Amino acid sequence: MAANNRANFGSKLGIILASAGSAVGLGNIWRFPYETGNHGGAAFILVYLGCVILLGLPIMISEFLIGRHSQASTGGAYSTLAPGTQWKWVGRIGVLTGFLILSYYSVVAGWTLEYILQAATNSFAGKSANDFIASFGAFSSNPWRPLVWLAVFLLATHFIVVKGVEKGIEKYSKLMMPALFVLLLILVVCAVTLPGANKGIEFLLAPDFSKVNGKVFLGAMGQAFFSLSLGMGCLGTYASYFGKNTNLAKTALSVSAIDTMVAILAGFIIFPAAFSVGIQPDTGPSLVFITLPNVFQQAFGGIPVLALILSVMFYVLLAVAAITSTISLHEVVTAYLHEQFKMTRKKAATFVTGSCIFLGIFCSLSLGKTKEYTLFGMGTFDLFDFATTKIMLPFGGLLISIFTGWYLSKKIVKEEITNQGTLKGSIYPYLIFILKYIAPVAISFILINELGFLE
Ligand code: PHE
Repeated sequence: MAANNRANFGSKLGIILASAGSAVGLGNIWRFPYETGNHGGAAFILVYLGCVILLGLPIMISEFLIGRHSQASTGGAYSTLAPGTQWKWVGRIGVLTGFLILSYYSVVAGWTLEYILQAATNSFAGKSANDFIASFGAFSSNPWRPLVWLAVFLLATHFIVVKGVEKGIEKYSKLMMPALFVLLLILVVCAVTLPGANKGIEFLLAPDFSKVNGKVFLGAMGQAFFSLSLGMGCLGTYASYFGKNTNLAKTALSVSAIDTMVAILAGFIIFPAAFSVGIQPDTGPSLVFITLPNVFQQAFGGIPVLALILSVMFYVLLAVAAITSTISLHEVVTAYLHEQFKMTRKKAATFVTGSCIFLGIFCSLSLGKTKEYTLFGMGTFDLFDFATTKIMLPFGGLLISIFTGWYLSKKIVKEEITNQGTLKGSIYPYLIFILKYIAPVAISFILINELGFLE
């Protein structure tokens, strides 16, 4: 598997931006705010930060070292490092998880395109909060429009993935990530200066611990895995394209810090904005699609050009954040098919795009036309989200920490952390301790507790 002509990222910055591009996405700007809103605000954020530091960082380093050492995408990495064992299932489950996430994630990513169009054609003008609630409901349950956007979004992802690692993934990430930061900062300044914004800031900063229960822990842990793109070998696959000199621990720290910062900044856009116009923060998945257009109208309606520019900017930001993530999800499955089944990259990518459009159709329709068909009380969209984020990713993380902490030779782990002895690697003992004991116990406890076995 360790082919010498394996594709590689061209630069250190490219590595950080592509990995951060995978991590930063709808998870930060769409999912993080509504999960925070559903779980009571600041207290959820504290538990979330704990999960990022204690579980996210060590597991990200693990994924990096598994990917770089095996020089294989996640689907093949475990068979390379643990030949003839059942560990290969960690990779395979990861590929399946990525496939399922890509299917429902692209539905929401498609919504961002509709909203760019609506914003740009001035359709938000003169609407009230209730109008926005109604128009989002009408759009997301429309049987056709969201499907067209779903296909457009997946095809755009497809073309970038087909271009390959350096000319596709790296080039586009380097272009899009800086643009995203600039847009984000402008919008934070606008949101926190709205009248009444302080209530939203308080919601983000003053924890109410009476709200912390088992659900908060499961929600925060799932969100941490989802937002950092962990538990399914996505970053492991990217790490297989890292150079020998890449400092894995430092890269993990940068990626986690960027990801967390973007989520918190998104919070500083959404909550001040929501509170200032009296929209409840626990509105759920529709939060950014209702709150934001309303805010732009209420706050800048007097200057219609400004309202128009800011709303277009926001949804472009969401689309950009989403596509750097869909690229990484797509890459995991494409690389697996390409490497394991010897398909050409183009053929593999076409298969992934086609199947995800197919599954995405079910996810999208489950929010409207086929609402009444549910399993465990959830439609396809919610079921995919729950099963992947709250179960499959943490479970993948559990297996990855056991694999690195207990199975993998300590020599390999040390070599990867210290780049063959050229770095100090002072985090090594802490890393092993967390991977061996803390992460497996914490993840199992939260999963078992919340899935009801202890009740
Ligand atoms: N991290 C991405 C986001 O926050 C989603 C994602 C999850 C991407 C898992 C890759 C793997 O939007």
